[in-house]
Amino acid sequence: MRPLPSESRKNRGISLGLLALCLAAARCLQSQGVSLYIPQPTINATVEEDILLSVEYSCHGVPTIEWKYTSNWGAQKIVEWQPGTQANISQSHKDRLCTFDNGSILLFSVSVRDSGYYVITVTERLGRSQFGTIVLHVSEILYEDLHFVAVFLAFLAAVAALLISLMWVCNKCAYKFQRRRHKLKESTTEEMELQGVEC
Ligand SMILES: *[C@@H]1O[C@H](CO)[C@@H](O)[C@H](O)[C@H]1NC(C)=O
Ligand SMILES: *[C@@H]1O[C@H](CO)[C@@H](O)[C@H](O)[C@H]1NC(C)=O
Ligand SMILES: *[C@@H]1O[C@H](CO)[C@@H](O)[C@H](O)[C@H]1NC(C)=O
Repeated sequence: MRPLPSESRKNRGISLGLLALCLAAARCLQSQGVSLYIPQPTINATVEEDILLSVEYSCHGVPTIEWKYTSNWGAQKIVEWQPGTQANISQSHKDRLCTFDNGSILLFSVSVRDSGYYVITVTERLGRSQFGTIVLHVSEILYEDLHFVAVFLAFLAAVAALLISLMWVCNKCAYKFQRRRHKLKESTTEEMELQGVEC
């Protein structure tokens, strides 16, 4: 016996519903992971620059963001916050760090001692977390500065030498010109005198 048309429609409706449920579950699972994007994992800086440790995360709900700093001197937590709330900044970084809602932090006026590894951990409310690392090299600018100054001084010296030789040449020319005019004058007066005698 063939099933009644209304029954087959009902079956189709149930299977469609199941499919939709499966898709929703898959999407839910996918969106539950935390993902973290770090455009620049290595940063070279010079002292006194303001450096943005730029990241972007995506996750379900509002996460907790934490940055740790690791160097030869050890590891320490420097800041922890939830986007939209006040950040808890460690004593060592008070007044020289600010946070952004996308998880990034800005370090003001870095020094050589700020070189090291900055590890960010983004933890979702359900406990899933993701971490990433940014390596910061801060170098002195002293050497490059001196180099620049030396090149600049050499350039100035060259310009000065050129100007001095130019002045010397000009002086010489002017002197010669004057002497020639003087001679010319003398010879014309002599000629005139001679002419006067002839007459
Ligand atoms: C940083 O400096 C190092 C050498 O000190 C170099 O190898 C590296 O390519 C530099 N990275 C960037 C992003 O400029
Ligand atoms: C995060 O936000 C800051 C400030 O708005 C921005 O400068 C930076 O580019 C952002 N980072 C990324 C990876 O989008
Ligand atoms: C801030 O961090 C310190 C140490 O990491 C902790 O003792 C303190 O309770 C935190 N304060 C808040 C308001 O979370």
